[in-house]
Amino acid sequence: MTPLPVVPGCTWYPGYLDASAQQAMVGALRGLIAEAPLFQPVMPRTGKPFSVRMTNLGSLGWVSDIKGYRYQPLHPETGRPWPPIPAAIMAIWTRVSGYPHPPEACLVNWYAPGAKMGLHQDRDEEDFDAPVVSVSLGETGIFRIGGTSRGGKTQSVKLASGDVLAFGGEARLAYHGVDRLVPGSSALLKDGGRINLTLRRVTKPAA
Ligand code: SIN
Ligand code: FE2
Repeated sequence: MTPLPVVPGCTWYPGYLDASAQQAMVGALRGLIAEAPLFQPVMPRTGKPFSVRMTNLGSLGWVSDIKGYRYQPLHPETGRPWPPIPAAIMAIWTRVSGYPHPPEACLVNWYAPGAKMGLHQDRDEEDFDAPVVSVSLGETGIFRIGGTSRGGKTQSVKLASGDVLAFGGEARLAYHGVDRLVPGSSALLKDGGRINLTLRRVTKPAA
């Protein structure tokens, strides 16, 4: 697995997880989603639904509802804590983040066939010293990443099942999104679609 530079601060690890590691991860995620069900996020103010459904793992989970974006320790529908981040997912952070503290949030985005994600910045965290680490499972996603201002030049990466991508440093606040999925590009998820995990450090570690 050769890490490939995408833009300064953003590194792509194609084929990070082999087929059996991907299957094991999807199996684990099915159990975790049964405990912390996928919910339908909506845009603040307008209430427009996202095209993805989501849930979280870890001590803090990212949610978006009519009141805004935020991190919270409890699932918005069950009222229970998010399940812990499994060791196999933590191991990816340890290997690629270059950051000495663990992530607190693992956002699980479920893309049904045809879903996408508009360009946005990940900036609801207090700590931007840690990178965002993303893991792709299922159909290939056409991921786009640019600079820190909207409307700048962008680069696209075909994130296939098992790929890992990290963006930190000068790319930590880069605009990014998913233009579309490539239908039929993976048989990992029996009904198609894509799962993306994004690991993030939310709070500043105590000095
Ligand atoms: C995200 O930015 O939250 C998701 C990125 C992806 O699905 O690859
Ligand atoms: Fe994001």
